Amino acid sequence: MNNDKLRELVAKMSVREKLAQLTQLTPICFGNDAFTQLTGPDAGLRVDKDDQPHVGSVLNCIGAEKVRVIQREHLNRNKYNIPLIFMADIIHGFKTIFPIPLAVGCSFSPQLAQKAARIAAVESAVSGVHVTFSPMADLVRDARWGRVLESYGEDPMINARFAEQNVIGYQGESIHNENSIAACVKHFAGYGAPEGGREYSNAEISEGTLEQMYLPSYKAAVDAGAKLVMISFNTINRVPMTANASLVKSKLRNDWKFDGCVISDYNAVGELMAHGIAKNGAEAAERAINGGMEIEMMSTHFLANGEELVNNKKISLQQLDDATLNVLKLKNDLGLFENPYRGISEEKEKELHLCQKHIKVARDIAIKCPVLLQNNNQALPIGENEKIGLVGPFAKSRHVLGAWSAGNTEGVSLMEGLASQIGADKLCVASTEELGSLLEGCQDIAMPNITLLKRKLAGCKRVIVAVGENQNDTGEGASKTDLHLTQNQMKLVSEVKALGKVVIAVVFSARPLVLQPILENCDAVLQAWFLGSESGNALADLLLGNISPSGKLCMSFPQCEGQIPVYYNHMRTGRPQQAGNATRYASRYIDCPNEPLFPFGYGLTYSECSLQNLKLEFDKQLRLSVEITNIGSRKCTETVQVYIMHHTASIALPAKELKDFAQAELNPGQTQTVSFNITQQMLTYILNGKNVFETGKFSFMVGTNSENCLHAETNISQEQYECMERSQYDINT
Ligand code: GLC
Repeated sequence: MNNDKLRELVAKMSVREKLAQLTQLTPICFGNDAFTQLTGPDAGLRVDKDDQPHVGSVLNCIGAEKVRVIQREHLNRNKYNIPLIFMADIIHGFKTIFPIPLAVGCSFSPQLAQKAARIAAVESAVSGVHVTFSPMADLVRDARWGRVLESYGEDPMINARFAEQNVIGYQGESIHNENSIAACVKHFAGYGAPEGGREYSNAEISEGTLEQMYLPSYKAAVDAGAKLVMISFNTINRVPMTANASLVKSKLRNDWKFDGCVISDYNAVGELMAHGIAKNGAEAAERAINGGMEIEMMSTHFLANGEELVNNKKISLQQLDDATLNVLKLKNDLGLFENPYRGISEEKEKELHLCQKHIKVARDIAIKCPVLLQNNNQALPIGENEKIGLVGPFAKSRHVLGAWSAGNTEGVSLMEGLASQIGADKLCVASTEELGSLLEGCQDIAMPNITLLKRKLAGCKRVIVAVGENQNDTGEGASKTDLHLTQNQMKLVSEVKALGKVVIAVVFSARPLVLQPILENCDAVLQAWFLGSESGNALADLLLGNISPSGKLCMSFPQCEGQIPVYYNHMRTGRPQQAGNATRYASRYIDCPNEPLFPFGYGLTYSECSLQNLKLEFDKQLRLSVEITNIGSRKCTETVQVYIMHHTASIALPAKELKDFAQAELNPGQTQTVSFNITQQMLTYILNGKNVFETGKFSFMVGTNSENCLHAETNISQEQYECMERSQYDINT
């Protein structure tokens, strides 16, 4: 249907029918309790019979059969034959579950996100999904917040590249293709900066930090063609985003030319009253619509008050028509008018869901995400023929998918992964049940039974202690102030150490935990995250040395909660702490170092690499090159990272910022030269929506993490800048 036809359709609709088209509900609101999955508070929302046929979209109803039934019933009652659009949270896979996004960010391989998103689209489209509320592009710095798991960490460039690749993966060549789904980037903007790390609290972000740190990832998703943008719960500059015309209309619509659909978050329109900027539902609807909201998710203030708002000229009919047209355009672009059942196939569900091809990709991705944080005396990898101890709450656990796993619950456990490769007879499993009752719901253990532990582990030199945080303590509504492992888990680590074993901690978590207390009792520590369907198999591949770990932290690990927020791209200070200078009057703590326990970009391999011969050459282009040599005894993949600091500019800028990275796969003894083309955009900062270059001295820091780098510096003139290559990411292009 062309746009004229769509406009004709809008013109036929009554105001109330348009308002219903802008409303998104779960089937529970139609009385279909069986067909729903609530992801927010159930306010007992129900819509009456004569409005139901005109509701525009459905939230979190998935499954070919269910969607077909609801769509058919709807079309039988909608007098314009306008199909429903089905939207869902497909965050890191649909049936084949991939590692949580925070883990995938540690792969430093954005193309893996595209691969995972493509499979998620193929698997969910056959189950009736048309839109996914992904990628989440919220930059995060505070591990107390439960939703850091959905983010790609603390760096703007990493978040931008991964958000972009997710959109490309979900949408493919066109969202009209039946194996594509539309991407909805979220949560615009700054939801990742809740004060105190406390869920849904205020975000205090300066204009400069918002522009340079938080907005680039949403823009990357919009530039990649995301069809929807979901607005965040938080306030920016004391205006709730759901009513923030300045950012939604002027930045998103006017500056970024976003022409897709803007959707509120769950009940966020109604929550403008709780924010204290609307005294009733009518004011909430007015503020939201004038703030640029088009689809109201899981509240009905538009429906209940829209007609009066139009009559009282609080909102214009044009706004309503534009929003309704946008929703119909999205349905049209998806091909839903031609075929309301586009893509749905019970047969293909059986053929595609968790098929071997997808499972293999899930394992290949999962292998790239764990981060080796410590490996003293080559405690890892484990030899094939030795007996291995395996203890702790995650030894046998299949609850390793991570939150937001689209209703799926189980993946391959660590025990299953190891046993499938070395045989169950090589494993001495002292699992939670034997060690003491599994304290229900908290994924913990009772105080370990040492006598039993000693007996069980008698034949083992090395013991894997599988610890971590309960998945229920992660995700939305799961902020916490204590990021330690539980006392019993820390006790288990020390008791196994006290038995004289080589201790290998494998940490299952959806956020950086405070691991400092266990380090002295561990010979090796592998940050496993939640790796999805193939968790146990991927971890076994790494622990047994089939492949070396290659992950690099995309989010810093704090020494303690008191350090939070701690991140690498922090601003400078007038009184920087100088190494070796214990003056009181410097930017420091008296009881903790400034540096995180493990910094952004950090991750060990089973080998060792050296960097040398850093060169900075200007010949029309500014090229940076460095040699990397594998001086260890095993093949490995290293990630060479380039950080840049602008020494002096009109505004204060971070001490360093990641501007490029490249991976090198090296055999023992092999040397590679890794080269980077420094583009204009890398030397700029963003101000008022533009890349700004200022001449002067620049430092270039190159390393395999953000702390230990080789340095080079040079002055760059305006004319040199003008000759330099422009990248596709240059905002001025
Ligand atoms: C939730 C989340 C959002 C999700 C939406 C629909 O409250 O904030 O990320 O997509 O509701 O489930």
